[in-house]
Amino acid sequence: MRLGTPLSPSAVRVMLLGAGELAKEVIIALQRLGVEVIAVDRYADAPGMQVAHRSHVVTMTDGVQLRRLIELERPHLVVPEIEAIATDALAEIEADGLAEVIPTARATRLTMNREGIRRLAAETLNLPTSPYAFADSLEEVRAALDGNIGYPAVIKPVMSSSGKGQSVVKSAADVEMAWSHAMVGSRVRQSRVIVEGFVDFDYEITQLTVRAVGPSGQVETYLCAPIGHVQKNGDYVESWQPQPMSETALLRARDIARQITGDLGGRGIFGVELFVKGDQVWFSEVSPRPHDTGLVTLASQRLSEFDLHARAILGLPVDTALRAPGASAVIYGGLEAKAIAFEGVAEALAVPESDVRLFGKPESFLKRRMGVAVATGVDIDEARTRARQAAALVRPVLG
Ligand SMILES: Nc1ncnc2c1ncn2[C@@H]1O[C@H](COP(=O)(O)OP(=O)(O)OP(=O)(O)O)[C@@H](O)[C@H]1O
Ligand SMILES: [Mg+2]
Repeated sequence: MRLGTPLSPSAVRVMLLGAGELAKEVIIALQRLGVEVIAVDRYADAPGMQVAHRSHVVTMTDGVQLRRLIELERPHLVVPEIEAIATDALAEIEADGLAEVIPTARATRLTMNREGIRRLAAETLNLPTSPYAFADSLEEVRAALDGNIGYPAVIKPVMSSSGKGQSVVKSAADVEMAWSHAMVGSRVRQSRVIVEGFVDFDYEITQLTVRAVGPSGQVETYLCAPIGHVQKNGDYVESWQPQPMSETALLRARDIARQITGDLGGRGIFGVELFVKGDQVWFSEVSPRPHDTGLVTLASQRLSEFDLHARAILGLPVDTALRAPGASAVIYGGLEAKAIAFEGVAEALAVPESDVRLFGKPESFLKRRMGVAVATGVDIDEARTRARQAAALVRPVLG
C-alpha cells in the first residue's frame, strides 16, 4: 500500500472501531506513518479519539449506523478494536468492496461469539481445548455438568468479554447462581452459555501472532515471545514477556497459533490465549486484534504489538524480536469520578527502566483500567517488580 499525506486525496484512511487504550496506541503508530485516522466509539473523548484526525460517536452494534459512517468517511481499512460490533454489516462492507476489514469480516464474526471460535478450533481444526458444551437454559447447563463436563467448570455467556457474566462452579450448589450471573453479564439479550471443563493449568499465555507481508510478497506468520499474565475477575492485572516454557510446550503453542490465525486469515496481529500445564497446551480463545496483556510489548519489544499491527495492516514488514525481558502492571481508577488526576507519576518514572501510560479516559471507575506501568529488567522478575512498583506509585485522585 502506498502511503500518502493525511487530509489530502493521497491519504491512506484507517477507521478504528473502538477507541480505547489499545486503539489509542495503534492510532499513534499509524499517525507516525502519516496515515489519516478516524476513531469511533460509543462515547465522546475516548482515548483513541484524542489522538485521531477525526472521531465519531456511534452505536457500533447498529449495522445501519455503521454502514452510513463508513460510506461517509470512505476509509481504506476498517480496524475493529472491540468485539461488540455489527459484524454482519462488516461482512457486507467487505463483500461490497467498500473497505477492507482487518483481519477479515469472518474473523470478527467468529471471534465475537465463543461458539463460533470454539467450534472452529476444536471441531474443524482439532485443536486441544477444554471439554465444552453449549446450553440455553439452566436445565441444559445441569445436564452438561452431569454429563461429560463435570466439576469444576466455568460458565460464560457466549457473547461477553473481560470476564463479564463468567463464574466457576465447584458443585451442583453453585449452578443456579452461575446461571443468573451469566444472564446479567451477557452483552446481548440472549441466554446461550458455554459450559467449559476447568483446566487446571500451571500458567496461561498470550501468543501474539502477526500475519504480515513477508519478503516473498505473500502473507507470512510471525510469532512474538510468549506473554505470561495474571487474570483477576476476568481482567488482566499483570503481564510479562518472555514467559519461560518447555521446548515442547512452546512448539505446541506456536503450532496452535499458526493454525488458528492461518484459518482466520487476513493481515494484522492476533492474541492467541492458551493454557499450559507441563508440556500440554490448550487453546482458549483468540482476539483478531492487539491484546491487553500485550501492553507489555511497549517496553519489551523493539516494535510493540501496536506498531506491529499498524505495519501489518498497511502491508509493511514486521520484526517481532524481543528487546529485553519486560512486564506491565495495570493502574486502576480506584475511585468513581469524572476528570480525575494522577499523583506520584514522577516517583513512578523514577523507577529504573520504567514507563507509564495514562489513557486519558474521561471517567474513572473503581476497577476501570486508567493506565499501565511497563518496565524492563535483566529478567522477568526484576521487570515485574519494577512494573508493580511504578504502578503502585501512581495514585488516582479527584481532579
Ligand atoms: N476453562 C477454563 N479453565 C480454567 N480457567 C479458565 C477457563 N476459562 C477461562 N478461564 C480463566 O478465566 C480467564 C478469562 O476467560 P476468557 O478469556 O474465556 O474470558 P473473556 O471474558 O474473554 O476474558 P478477556 O476478554 O479478558 O480475554 C482466562 O484468562 C482464565 O484465566
Ligand atoms: Mg480471554
